[in-house]
Amino acid sequence: MSWSGGYVTDLEYTYGFYRELAPSLQSLALLWSRAGAPSPSGKLAYCELGCGHGMSANILAAANPGIEFFATDFNPGQVAFARELAASTQLANMHFFEDSFAEFAERKDLPEFDIISLHGIYSWIKAEYRENICEIIRRRLKPGGIVYISYNCLPGWAAAAPMRHLLYLHGKTSGGPTGTRVGPALDFAAKVEASGSRYFQSVPGLKQRLEKLHGQNRNYVAHEYMNDAWQLLYFSDVAAELSEAKLGFAASAALLDAIDVINLTKEQKALLGGIADPVLRETTRDYIINQQFRRDLFVKGRVPARSDVFETELVDLPFVLTVPLDDLNLTIKGALGGANASEGVYRPIAEIIAEGPRSARQIVTDARGSKIKLQEIMQALYILTGAEQAHPCLPPEGADARRASTDRFNQVILERAPHFSELRYMASPVTGSGHPVDRMAQLFLAGRAPNTDPKHFAEQALARRGERLVVDGKPVTDSAVHEAEMAKRVRAFEAKQLPLLKRLGIA
Ligand SMILES: C[S@@+](CC[C@H](N)C(=O)[O-])C[C@H]1O[C@@H](n2cnc3c(N)ncnc32)[C@H](O)[C@@H]1O
Repeated sequence: MSWSGGYVTDLEYTYGFYRELAPSLQSLALLWSRAGAPSPSGKLAYCELGCGHGMSANILAAANPGIEFFATDFNPGQVAFARELAASTQLANMHFFEDSFAEFAERKDLPEFDIISLHGIYSWIKAEYRENICEIIRRRLKPGGIVYISYNCLPGWAAAAPMRHLLYLHGKTSGGPTGTRVGPALDFAAKVEASGSRYFQSVPGLKQRLEKLHGQNRNYVAHEYMNDAWQLLYFSDVAAELSEAKLGFAASAALLDAIDVINLTKEQKALLGGIADPVLRETTRDYIINQQFRRDLFVKGRVPARSDVFETELVDLPFVLTVPLDDLNLTIKGALGGANASEGVYRPIAEIIAEGPRSARQIVTDARGSKIKLQEIMQALYILTGAEQAHPCLPPEGADARRASTDRFNQVILERAPHFSELRYMASPVTGSGHPVDRMAQLFLAGRAPNTDPKHFAEQALARRGERLVVDGKPVTDSAVHEAEMAKRVRAFEAKQLPLLKRLGIA
């Protein structure tokens, strides 16, 4: 298709949500690195480039009704879906465009943006489109505005790139719709590996990586492996391109990257500490940890470091636990492996934020947190967030408007759950972000409506589509066993997930 520039368009992308796009999370990353950030509760203008089905943008618009959201993607099917969802959930602050990046750059009807985000785009498109993106940023991002950008990078992808090329080439040679190319290409690469290919033998873990692809979402694999345009970039390449749009690197949105003890040995830390140039330092860090995917925050203009905001804002920023307390996992993973966080510090903090949003200043006044130093509390909250077990919260002001907006949005997600199993995230008015809620949990939530029984509702929903619960990889065929399994799952949901969804304002 001429408008697509080699981008896969005959197979739509997934319906994912990515927390790094949430202004509340971006703001925390910037605060931690002592950079000033647009306040997530302020009246901001937010833009997403290459929004796919628009799930991230729609969820964020629902959870942040005070922010105006603008998003574009040139795939009309995806934009139609995104617009329909925004319309049926009455998101007046969400504006979708079906523009290519080149067309979007030329628009005269856009505001200046505080935040521009692009996830899974930059290394999957031709150089010309990357230039269009830089042009949008140059023209439309406010001074001091931020850009969130993720991309496949070198050196981490270097060893697997030839495998990707083989899959791509096999797919291209076979021809036909992209969706039909993935399976045969994977089988072909498996045959090459099994023939004793020296390439596969020379890369540790590559065989397992290939095997894992078989189990992954086909639409994702197609977009990652079958695209004509696919270019690996060094951090230094991206930094150079974005510097043309007046951007400088500010922080990693992968929060745990900022925690040296789990990522770097003492020698590595000293080595990096001795590098004055920030681009060389960050690129060298990628060599040290063999980084293959980066999630970066850049800022427009050199904004001086703000150690004052770190102290004053972080101490009063509330956090909430985003996993059931029973599932708290204090093994924190970094490039060096897993490190055990202190039970004596982290568990009481987790218990407190499992009761609802609390700031470090509030935690230290709670009897359970009173023996922990304020700095340690702030670090624990940050690390729990990096480990996807906590999240910063928006202020209580505006909570009612947020709740009204997310209730409308979440209600539509629940209405669709019986018929469409792809929408696996819901909007939280507490965090201003999206949270995973699997389909069974959505059916149980929908079944909590007045005069309905969650178990009966879920059973009926599955029966209507001829679906059965799956245990040990097999659908349960015996009716009595199926009913008992459903009852067990409802009890587990009510004991564990429901309290979590209530504290996130989703239930
Ligand atoms: C890998 S998907 C990522 C989608 C979404 N950001 C996500 O992470 O779920 C890349 C998206 O970029 C869009 N895209 C690619 N090139 C584009 C261009 N030149 N202009 C507008 N959209 C483009 C595609 O249609 C696709 O939806």
